[in-house]
Amino acid sequence: MKQTYLGPTGLVVSELCLGTMTFGGTADLDTSRAIVGRFRDAGGTFFDTADVYTGGRSEELLGEILGADRDDVVIATKAYGATGDGVNDRSASRRHLVRAVDASLTRLGTDWIDLYQLHRFDATTPLEETLSTLEDLVRAGKVLHVGVSNFLGWQLERAVRLQEMAGYDPFVSLQPQYSLIERKIELETLPAARANGMAVLAWSPLAAGFLTGKYARGEPPAEGRFARWVDDTSDQGWATLDAVRDIADAAGVQPATVAIAWLRARPDVVPIVGATRPDQLDATLAAADMTLEPAALTRLDEVSAPAQGYPYDFPPDSGRPGRDLP
Ligand SMILES: NC(=O)c1ccc[n+]([C@@H]2O[C@H](COP(=O)([O-])OP(=O)(O)OC[C@H]3O[C@@H](n4cnc5c(N)ncnc54)[C@H](OP(=O)(O)O)[C@@H]3O)[C@@H](O)[C@H]2O)c1
Repeated sequence: MKQTYLGPTGLVVSELCLGTMTFGGTADLDTSRAIVGRFRDAGGTFFDTADVYTGGRSEELLGEILGADRDDVVIATKAYGATGDGVNDRSASRRHLVRAVDASLTRLGTDWIDLYQLHRFDATTPLEETLSTLEDLVRAGKVLHVGVSNFLGWQLERAVRLQEMAGYDPFVSLQPQYSLIERKIELETLPAARANGMAVLAWSPLAAGFLTGKYARGEPPAEGRFARWVDDTSDQGWATLDAVRDIADAAGVQPATVAIAWLRARPDVVPIVGATRPDQLDATLAAADMTLEPAALTRLDEVSAPAQGYPYDFPPDSGRPGRDLP
């Protein structure tokens, strides 16, 4: 697996990240160990978790499994979600973040977190309070870089401008849901991230398993973490899956391989692949070696394109010359 820089930083990560949300839940310790082993054998070095995954067990298992390998890998985790019942046991407030980071460090069994992400925007805490707290965590060496997840474009832009004015270390990554099934971030959030040179870490790159092709129209799903998505999936989603299947069949690979390869073809996108069993990684890790043909990319781009609507489709001013004047 190739390596890449995490956005504008000097931190080198594998071009696929392993999501560990299943660890301590549908994947027990032995299964989680086997998943990590499969990922490491393929050259993977980048891991994503969160303090709220499986009530903290995901971080604990990841720390235990990595053990002495900690120095060789990059760990991203997140804070914001409820870690207790108290009113201050959640949010991006100073009070919660300073406690949350120490709890994550303990569970992970490490002295530092490579990438510390806000799990979502906090509409109740002044952004200045959150940003100065994150800066303190960076200065204390507990956190090397900071990022965000599930932000809107304006939230991201405002945060980065405030960081710039204060001279703080900027957010270096955005972690949105992003796949051939969910592309709405391309309208606003993705351009904001790109304008700020941020890495894009795509969660649920298989739409939680839908893009493996294991679900069928009109058939009740027999298994799967997000089997309920089948009921919600639109005609466009099924048409997208048909295109993915066609391209996969022609190339002699699994649909999941095509779905991840499509994301990899987009600049600065690192897919966060998930698994409940180690063998599931065979299809997703194979994407590290697949380059989609231009015709396949065009077909996938077109069939899965997000609906635009106002103001994204507001026509450009046709009475005004373009920037490239003669
Ligand atoms: N920031 C956020 O808010 C947020 C939210 C969600 C996730 N995440 C991150 O993103 C990571 C990945 O999310 P995700 O698990 O939804 O990603 P995903 O790659 O879209 O889905 C992974 C799931 O699909 C199924 N699957 C994968 N490969 C398969 C195969 N070859 N055959 C059959 N089934 C297969 C498995 O679920 P089943 O076996 O249950 O079907 C597996 O757990 C998480 O671990 C977490 O780190 C972040």
